[in-house]
Amino acid sequence: MNNSSIPVITIDGPSASGKGTVAQLVAQKLGFHYLDSGALYRIVALAAHQKDIPWVDESAVAECANNLEIRFNHDQVMLNNQDVSELIRSEKMGKGASQVAVHPNVRAALVTLQHSFRKAPGLVADGRDMGTVIFPDAALKIFLTASTETRAVRRYKQLLGKNLQADYYEILLDLQERDARDKNRASAPLIMAEHAVLLKTDNLDINEAVNFVLRHFETANKKQ
Ligand code: CDP
Repeated sequence: MNNSSIPVITIDGPSASGKGTVAQLVAQKLGFHYLDSGALYRIVALAAHQKDIPWVDESAVAECANNLEIRFNHDQVMLNNQDVSELIRSEKMGKGASQVAVHPNVRAALVTLQHSFRKAPGLVADGRDMGTVIFPDAALKIFLTASTETRAVRRYKQLLGKNLQADYYEILLDLQERDARDKNRASAPLIMAEHAVLLKTDNLDINEAVNFVLRHFETANKKQ
């Protein structure tokens, strides 16, 4: 079935930029579906880890990604009938996701699954390559970012809020490492898509960022 008429808003950007929260709220406001593509890379990292497959082993991890038994149930993610919603959110799986995401064959294994989220009345997709690779025909492409320091402070507060241990400098280094891996990989690197709108959130709160996206979507619709 051709679903190219179903509108997609892509929100790409680096780690801890707040794009997940913004994307979810935009989807909620518009009544659109939501794709958290980072969760898929986290699931692959976890699935490989559970099978003792090292994240550097591209072919074994890709095989794992091609044979994922996953189900999404609202906020719940089920992997082989196990609820892994919390497990995939750990810092360890975040690092694993960033490592498995460098493999072209792993990325290829997740393309069809990502396209399957494009359903009426529309989709908001967040990630690194949503506008450049997965949904190049998106109605609106946003590149959402903030300085590394702003993002490190946000992640630091987020961890403290969850009563987890956090070291600001460790977080800053980790973000720099992940940014470098995302930007410098050969396959689907993190870059701003052509025609994307830049949204810097250093001095914006969540509502302002959400309204920015909604305004641009309205304008994009009027132009069509
Ligand atoms: O918390 P953070 O924003 O780092 O993570 P995430 O959005 O859950 O994604 C986890 C990792 O998957 C990222 O560090 C990226 O390396 C990778 N990823 C990707 O390569 N392509 C995407 N479309 C989404 C995530």
